[in-house]
Amino acid sequence: MSYKHTQFWNVDKLEAEETSSPAITEAGLCISEGETVAFPTETVYGLGADATNDNAVDKIFKAKGRPGDNPLIVHIGNVEQWGDLASVIPEMAQTLADSFWPGPLTLIVPKKQTVSEKVTAGLSSVAVRMPDHAVARALINAAGVPVAAPSANRSGRPSPTKAEHVLYDLDGRIAGIIDGGDAGFGLESTVVDCTGEKAVILRPGGITREQIETVLGTINVLETGKTSDSEAPKAPGMKYRHYAPSSPLFLVDNEMEEVIAKERLAGKKIGVLAVDEHKTKWEPLVDLFIPLGSVDNLSDIAAHLYHHLRLADESKVDVILCETFSKSGVGSAIMNRLEKAASSS
Ligand code: TXA
Ligand code: MG
Repeated sequence: MSYKHTQFWNVDKLEAEETSSPAITEAGLCISEGETVAFPTETVYGLGADATNDNAVDKIFKAKGRPGDNPLIVHIGNVEQWGDLASVIPEMAQTLADSFWPGPLTLIVPKKQTVSEKVTAGLSSVAVRMPDHAVARALINAAGVPVAAPSANRSGRPSPTKAEHVLYDLDGRIAGIIDGGDAGFGLESTVVDCTGEKAVILRPGGITREQIETVLGTINVLETGKTSDSEAPKAPGMKYRHYAPSSPLFLVDNEMEEVIAKERLAGKKIGVLAVDEHKTKWEPLVDLFIPLGSVDNLSDIAAHLYHHLRLADESKVDVILCETFSKSGVGSAIMNRLEKAASSS
């Protein structure tokens, strides 16, 4: 699928009480006519299409180069739409939705038969999320249909947190992009499987385990890591390469100085991603230093992490070394994405 022009709409982030704008109406029409439109959310930019139109959903997979067995999240503009997608809404899912929707939380629930297998990749469950972003919700409401949307990057690239990132990856491959400024949280939503007896976090994200446990009590988190191709994965996305940097990325706990010295000895050009506070320590020793933000502000580090990984990608270093973070709170999502980027390089 190729487009001569990818339409670009610029909208300021809509205020909560506003519901639309001419650009949103046009973009909504584009989706209802079976086209793909990228749009901002409070996590990352999504690539949306009518979830009820198989041909439109196909265009998402083609534009991204996404494997067809990796299911999509269906985005809704109001809670009522949930009932059109879920065959039952388990109590824990209802509790989570009441507590955190609209917001960066995706709930996996048993699907209605009418939900397309293209969207769910043949699974009997469907992933649903109501985004906490005025532009995203206005677009879904303008389209008048639930909107299937993965992150709007080419498969294997970091998720986009700016409209420029989407353009870089998908210009000419999708019908349009709504530029609503930087996405908010910067990493994807938390995905929680609500189809079993207890809720399980399949992917840490914008809503932390600690927040979920305040309403559900202790819950499980699926271990990070790839599942083998032969087993049916709980979170199908986990078996694929994610956020793969062009140069190998290594996570370094405490021995940064030693690792830098070793790579230097091997004649490598070295890039380091580290907290601002360590700039004076590492910058003089390496070819490229990218400050991730202050160690005291993990939310800020999360918000810009994908942009920083893209910058590291564009530089022509031989090896990228990145500091690690504690896995509590927002740190859990940050480390999950870094571990995936590191294990796939
Ligand atoms: O923040 C987000 O969630 C962003 C924005 C655009 O909403 N979307 C996003 O979509 O990250 P995507 O496609 O990049 O990631 C969706 C994840 C994948 O790992 C997929 O395998 C998993 O959710 N998933 C979708 N449906 C599922 C299901 N029925 N059962 C288990 N996992 C599912
Ligand atoms: Mg993605």
